[in-house]
Amino acid sequence: MNAQRRHVIAGMAAAAMAGGLPLGAFAQKKVVLGFSQIGAESEWRTANTESIKSAAKEHGIELKFSDAQQKQENQIKAIRSFIAQRVDVIAFSPVVESGWETVLREAKAAKIPVILTDRAVNVKDDSLWVSFMGSDFLEEGRKAGRWLTEKMKDVKGEVHIVELQGTVGSAPAIDRKRGFEEIIKADPKFKIIRSQTGDFTRAKGKEVMEAFLKAEGKKINVLYAHNDDMAIGAIQAIEEAGLKPAKDIVIISIDAVKGAFEAMMAGKLNVTVECSPLLGPQLMQAVKDLKAGKTLPKRIVTEEGIFPMEVAAKEFPKRKY
Ligand code: AHR
Repeated sequence: MNAQRRHVIAGMAAAAMAGGLPLGAFAQKKVVLGFSQIGAESEWRTANTESIKSAAKEHGIELKFSDAQQKQENQIKAIRSFIAQRVDVIAFSPVVESGWETVLREAKAAKIPVILTDRAVNVKDDSLWVSFMGSDFLEEGRKAGRWLTEKMKDVKGEVHIVELQGTVGSAPAIDRKRGFEEIIKADPKFKIIRSQTGDFTRAKGKEVMEAFLKAEGKKINVLYAHNDDMAIGAIQAIEEAGLKPAKDIVIISIDAVKGAFEAMMAGKLNVTVECSPLLGPQLMQAVKDLKAGKTLPKRIVTEEGIFPMEVAAKEFPKRKY
């Protein structure tokens, strides 16, 4: 450091102390993270946002948080604004898989590293992002399929499944469908008779389930919902149709949020596959590691389980989201 710069910093520190500010305020500039969240479409997403905000506080990282309200164009705008503000790191949970190439190239040209959380992107050049942390959605779909094939292994005749898909084009909707189908196709008695998006929301889950019930009625044996919120919405539709959820229709969903445990304890949901939203601490550690010049693992997979209704009451007190 040259003498003139040392003199300026000493002056700033003296001014800070005279003004009652901690000396550290000048000695260390806070790391700035720009985070673009998808929205607030589900109980899962709210827990994810909370995890990121509280972890940023704990780690002393300045968080610039932007809610995209489920729109890719808003996420792209947010990322561009983070680039313009010269944040240290950008992280985001991409609402859909495709269409990110241009903005990610802009971040790379500005030398701002990008971390993907929760959902992946589909880009040809993997160097456009440094790390992807989150669940293995394909495996979640497989877990749901394995649970169903085991539960129904002695059933003779066809098993009619209706499927509530997540947001069209999103990584969890694509992979959860694929993983589930991969398992059930081993036995031709399992048939998906209707499959439509419920956009990961309760309201849409209810609306689409009403339509399924109207079209197929008592023919439906199983509901596979790509998240708990849609399953909870669908449970309302099933009850309003005079049927018993988890008895007349077997219900499988994904996330393992508290709402799903409450539904299982009430005997209305058969099983939920875990997908943890608590990515905040891991993300903040990764941001610090990047600033310290470390290389992050390209993929960080979250460890997760599966909870059938029989264990719900015992597990519920341990649930953090
Ligand atoms: O990307 C994770 C999925 O997004 C969760 O399963 C769902 O609830 C959320 O909205």
